[in-house]
Amino acid sequence: MNFKLNNGVLVPSIGFGTWQISNEDAYEATLNAIKIGYRHIDTAYAYQNEEAIGRAIKDSKIDRSELFITSKLPSDIKSYDGAKEYFNKSLNLLNLEYLDLYLIHAPWPWSNIGLDCKDGNIEAWKAMVELYKNGYIRSIGVSNFLESDIKPLIEATGFIPHVNQIRFFIGNTQEKLLKYCQDNNILVEAYSPLATGNILNDKNIIEVANKHNVTVAQVAIRYCIERNTLPLPKSTNLERQKMNLDVDFKLDKEDLEKLNKVHNKELDRPLRS
Ligand code: A2P
Repeated sequence: MNFKLNNGVLVPSIGFGTWQISNEDAYEATLNAIKIGYRHIDTAYAYQNEEAIGRAIKDSKIDRSELFITSKLPSDIKSYDGAKEYFNKSLNLLNLEYLDLYLIHAPWPWSNIGLDCKDGNIEAWKAMVELYKNGYIRSIGVSNFLESDIKPLIEATGFIPHVNQIRFFIGNTQEKLLKYCQDNNILVEAYSPLATGNILNDKNIIEVANKHNVTVAQVAIRYCIERNTLPLPKSTNLERQKMNLDVDFKLDKEDLEKLNKVHNKELDRPLRS
């Protein structure tokens, strides 16, 4: 199954997340993921694993056109020239000729969360629109952006991001932001769909999993799809990689009502720390 972006580009509906996978581990993890059927890989310059992922892509021998590869502009690069420079660095590390999706990693540097970088984001966005129009990227977007971060980009360029990648999982669904993105045809991608492992013991999710004879992780991943968001589960373990791709079951209205009510105060924050 695919999601369709507002420019018609199709995106495989589950992506392989690679945050927190080191360059040493990323080669084998990515090669395995591709072997068992993942066709969508999500990385970032900041993850420092693009080189290994690039090798795995090459060695997989899968036709480039069948893969969907995402990378991200480092959060502290907030200029037109910087955006082009770092896009090329990612392309070189990945050893690719184009990317399927390139995102501004965050509206502010991770070292200074909340800093007003509106002008810098607009400059970076202009460079990305140009790269998109020149065919180096098939789609462009943002990550960790709120509505108030997205609007200035659209006002300055008239170009609506194709994607906003946010921290999204059962109990942390950022409903207002989700609605804004979906109303504006911006695909929401869900990073940490398993709350980096922290929702696996939730009583309500376990009940739903038992009902369908699946695992809690599978419910968490299926939930993202049912909410029209694209999950990016991360695993370095082959069996769990397989499990996370095997979510061809339906959650019914009653399940969704129950899962929508799950609320974990501890985890309910919009950002990764
Ligand atoms: P591992 O890599 O050892 O499988 P998220 O995708 O929300 O960031 O969560 C990733 C975390 O959840 C990792 O610690 C990963 O560990 C673990 N994980 C991934 N898939 C599963 C699964 N199917 N069941 C249990 N834990 C999982």
